[in-house]
Amino acid sequence: MKLGCCYYPEHWPESMWVDDARRMKALGLSLVRIGEFAWSRIEPDPGRYDWPWLDRAIQVLADAGLKIILGTPTATPPKWLVDAHPDILPLDPHGHPRTFASRRHYCFSSKTYLEESKRITTALAERYGAHPAVVMWQTDNEFGCHDTVISYSDDARAAFRVWLEDRYGDVRTLNEAWGNVFWSMEYRSFDEVDPPAATVTEPNPAHVMAWRRFSSGQVRRFHDVQAAIIRRLSPGRDITHNFMGHFTEFDHHAFAKDAIDLATWDSYPLGFLEQAWWPEADKVRFARTGHPDFAAFHHDLYRGIGRGRWGIMEQQPGPVNWGAYNPAPLPGMVALWTLEAAAHGAEFVSYFRWRQAPFAQEQMHAGLNRPDNLPDTASEEAANVLQTLAKCGDLSARKQAEVALVYDYEAEWATNIQPQGRRYNYSELAFLFYEGLRRFGANIDIVGPQDVLTGYRLVVLPGNTMCPGVKADNAAQIVLGPRTGSKTAEFSIPEGLAPGTLAEEAGLRVRRVESLRPGLTVAGSIAGERFEAPRWREFIESDLPPIATFDDGEGAVFRNGQVTYIACWPDCTTLTHALAGAFDAAGLVRADVPEAVRIRRTGDLTFAFNYGENIDLQAAGLIPEGARIVSGSVRPGPAGVTVWTI
Ligand code: GAL
Repeated sequence: MKLGCCYYPEHWPESMWVDDARRMKALGLSLVRIGEFAWSRIEPDPGRYDWPWLDRAIQVLADAGLKIILGTPTATPPKWLVDAHPDILPLDPHGHPRTFASRRHYCFSSKTYLEESKRITTALAERYGAHPAVVMWQTDNEFGCHDTVISYSDDARAAFRVWLEDRYGDVRTLNEAWGNVFWSMEYRSFDEVDPPAATVTEPNPAHVMAWRRFSSGQVRRFHDVQAAIIRRLSPGRDITHNFMGHFTEFDHHAFAKDAIDLATWDSYPLGFLEQAWWPEADKVRFARTGHPDFAAFHHDLYRGIGRGRWGIMEQQPGPVNWGAYNPAPLPGMVALWTLEAAAHGAEFVSYFRWRQAPFAQEQMHAGLNRPDNLPDTASEEAANVLQTLAKCGDLSARKQAEVALVYDYEAEWATNIQPQGRRYNYSELAFLFYEGLRRFGANIDIVGPQDVLTGYRLVVLPGNTMCPGVKADNAAQIVLGPRTGSKTAEFSIPEGLAPGTLAEEAGLRVRRVESLRPGLTVAGSIAGERFEAPRWREFIESDLPPIATFDDGEGAVFRNGQVTYIACWPDCTTLTHALAGAFDAAGLVRADVPEAVRIRRTGDLTFAFNYGENIDLQAAGLIPEGARIVSGSVRPGPAGVTVWTI
C-alpha cells in the first residue's frame, strides 16, 4: 500500500514547492493529489487559461519522484462563470438559488454547466493527459457533499420529465404505478409532473422515490461526461472519484458500475462520529478514536463499489474543523486508521492535507504539517506506518470474504421517505448487523443488491425494502432484517404482503407493523435470555415455531431452513443470537472479539486494532499458541495495532 497527501500548490508561494516535494518524498509518500479546487487559477478570465504555474507545480512534484492524482476542478466554478450563467446554480425546494462564495454551487442537471465542465476537463486533459507523472484522475470532489445531489432547477424539471417518460412509457402507467388516484394526483401528460417540492403535506412516496432515482442518475451522467474525455485524452490512467462516509444521497453501486477504475473515499473518523447517530456516551467514549466499525464499514463498502480496487483519498490527520466538536486523535490513531485501511485492502492512503492552511474556511483543519511548516504529529505516524507495512509484506492479495452484507441505497431512501417511526434508519440498522458480524471476527464484503452472491456462506440483508430476491448459493445461510421486501419497486405494499418475493423462502408473512417511540420497547425471550426490541416490531403469520418470542406470545425471530427472519429492530441480545445461529449453521468459526478490539484477516496475517484500553490479546484468546508476532505487541495499548501469523 502506498501513502500520499493532498496538496494545493496554489495556496503557497512557489518558493516553497521544491522543498515541499522533497519532504513528501523523504517522508515516504509516493502520491500527491492536486488541482481539484483550482479553477480560478487555471482559468482566471473566461477562455484565458494560465497553465505555466500548474506546469511548474506538476514538474516540481514529478521531479521529486512523486506520482500525481489530478482532480478536475468542477466542484468550484469561478465567480465569472456563475455571474455569466446564473442558471448553473442549484435551486432549493423553494426555487431560491444556493449562491457563490463556498463550493459545490452547481446543479447536476444544468445544461450550461455540463458544457462548461466538458470544456475545462478537455482543456486539463489535453494539457496533462499524457504527462508521465499523472497516474490517476479524480473527477470533481465529493459529489453531493453539502446536500447538493438534489436541485429543483428548470433543467432538472425538464430532464425529470424525460426520465419519467423513458421509465413509464405513457402517463397512465405512471399514474397506475404510483397510485395517483389517491388524492386526485393523476396527470394527463408527463409535462404536468413537477419535482416533489414545497407540497402542502407529504408528496406521494412513489413520486419522491422516482425523483431520488432520477437525481441519483444525474450525478452519474455528470461524471460520465468527464470520464469519457479523460479516457480519450489520458489513456492508461485510472479514473476515480472520492466518495464520502455516511453518504447515501445517490446510489453508489449504480454510479460506479463501469464508470470508475477504483473507488476512493474520504475518511474522517472523528468528524463522522460527531455527525452520526451514536448516543452521547459513545461519542464521548470514542471521541479520540472514532467508532471501531465506522471506517471499516466504509472500507468494505467501497471495496465492493470499486470491484476490489479502492483507496483513501483523504485521511484525517488531526483535528478537523467541521464537527460540532473537533478533538485531537489519540496518539497513534492516525497510524491505526492507515493500517486498518491496508488490512482491508486499500491500494493507498492519502492524508488530507500536506500543510494546514492559515487562511479561509479550513484554517482550523490539521495537516501533516502545521501552518508554520513544522511537521505535525501525523507526519511521524505516517513514517511509522511505512515501517509496519514493510514488516507485513505484500498485502495486495484479495480473497472474497465468507460473509456478505447486501447494502441497498434505495432501502435507505425508502425508509427515509416513509420512516413510519422517527428513529427508523436503514443505514443505522445495516451498521448494527455489520457490528454484530465483526464481533465474531468475520471478514465481511459489503455488496450491492445487483451483485452476484456466489461463494458466500452467509448473506445478510439488513432490511432491504425493495428486494427482488436473493441469488445466493444453495447452501448459503440467509439472514433477513425487518422490512425486507416490504415494498414493490414502485413503492407500494406487495400483493402477498412483506417480505414480498421472499415470503416463501422465509416461510412467513408480515400482517402488521408498529413503530415504537423512545422509551417504549417490546420485551421477549431468545435462547433463554431476555431481550427488548426498540423502535420497530412486526406481527408475523407463519406455521413455523419461532426461535424467539415476544412476551405476548407472538414470534420475533424465525428460521425456515437456511433463512432467518428478524421481525423487530434487534437489540444486542437478539442480534447476537440470530447471527450466531446463522453463523454456526454456515459452518463458520466464531471468535469472541473483545469489545473495543477489531480484527481483520488478510493473506496469512491477522491484524488486531485496539480502539480501547490496554488489553492482553493472548489472554483474550485472540492470538493462538504458536503464533508469530509480525508487528506490535501481544499487549497493545490504546491505538495499538498487532499483526500476527500462524
Ligand atoms: C472533505 C473535502 C475536502 C476538505 C475536507 C476537510 O470533505 O473533500 O476538500 O474540505 O473534507 O475535512
